[in-house]
Amino acid sequence: MTDLSKFKQRIIVTGGAGFIGANYLLYMISKYPEYLFVNVDCLTYAGNLKSLEPIETTPNYKFEKVDIRDFKGLKEAFDKYKPTGVVHLAAESHVDRSIIGPSDFINTNIVGTFNLLELSRSIDDSLFRFHHISTDEVFGSLGKDGYFNEDSPYQPNSPYSATKAASDHLVRSYHKTYGLDTVTTNCSNNYGPHQFPEKLIPLMIRNAIETKPLPVYGDGKHIRDWLFVEDHCKALDLVFHKGKAGETYNIGGSNEIENIELVKMICSIIDEKLGSKNREKLITFVEDRPGHDRRYAIDASKIKDELGWQPEHEFEAGLRITIEWYLENKNWLDTCINGEYLKYYNKVYKNR
Ligand code: NAD
Ligand code: TYD
Repeated sequence: MTDLSKFKQRIIVTGGAGFIGANYLLYMISKYPEYLFVNVDCLTYAGNLKSLEPIETTPNYKFEKVDIRDFKGLKEAFDKYKPTGVVHLAAESHVDRSIIGPSDFINTNIVGTFNLLELSRSIDDSLFRFHHISTDEVFGSLGKDGYFNEDSPYQPNSPYSATKAASDHLVRSYHKTYGLDTVTTNCSNNYGPHQFPEKLIPLMIRNAIETKPLPVYGDGKHIRDWLFVEDHCKALDLVFHKGKAGETYNIGGSNEIENIELVKMICSIIDEKLGSKNREKLITFVEDRPGHDRRYAIDASKIKDELGWQPEHEFEAGLRITIEWYLENKNWLDTCINGEYLKYYNKVYKNR
């Protein structure tokens, strides 16, 4: 039995075995030894406990294999740990999978968030805070100019972003209606260690290492505003502790780049590290993604001005750290490449 009273805070982190969740836990657990962190994750294809091996025996870390769609299982975790906070990262997170089949997205991202909010609103603890982690994709697509800020209208274009938008609205309503202490953060695309190789950067790194085709959607001129995951985790720490109840904060890297330029950068760094094979020749333009948002870019001045946050990693440096991590952690990458992955890969890329 864990002695709960010895911890200053008990924080349920949902989705802690995923990309951002694992980086967040690795960062927070050593920073806050006086807090208990309970990782609630059902380990979908995207959850990987291998990422958490460095902390698995740490006294302020617990893992509970629970599905946030399962209200009863979640209630047991809440009763067991009596959380003083929830940091909600669990989600189905990949746009291409949401296009193939939105059902899991509806159930995890909307119903799962609803379950967590229902359990949270009955907690009688003045310390309690619900931190909802969301995406800039809820705001839709930008043209050549402009930035998303906290007042941008919601215009989600993919089933993924629509379910994240729905969950953001639920969180807002629980603050307004029930007075639940909530904060929501909407972040741009993350990159870094431990990211599942379905997302652009790790997929291209893996394929480039293996000299396989590098599938760029459409004309490759779509723009994302990339943020190194550790910088995101630091922003989450600040917002959880210092953000104002009921507020939302946009987080971004001020780092826009076209997909094609990014893939070329990956090729040149891997050529440099593994010996030149002119990997740019592997770039293959493939049929575009339906509903593909053209450009995302974040105006992060609110979190910068109010909480003093700013990204610390310059893009090329962060990309080099990421590539080196994948080269040094081939075992981690191998755990992702199983039958499920190959089936998914065929479905998305074979007839493009
Ligand atoms: P991920 O797909 O890497 O990990 C998701 C984690 O949630 C996995 O560990 C998975 O097992 C778990 N999970 C999924 N369904 C679950 C369920 N029903 N019950 C319990 N656990 C479940 O995702 P990520 O990239 O780490 O993203 C984390 C959060 O951040 C998501 O809410 C996502 O929408 C948001 N976000 C991600 C990015 C990004 O670039 N990756 C950017 C902005 C916001
Ligand atoms: P992704 O990592 O799926 O993130 P999101 O769609 O949530 O922004 O994709 C990032 C960008 O890269 C997006 O414009 C789609 C593009 N992309 C490709 O061109 N090829 C690919 O194989 C993948 C996965 C993405």
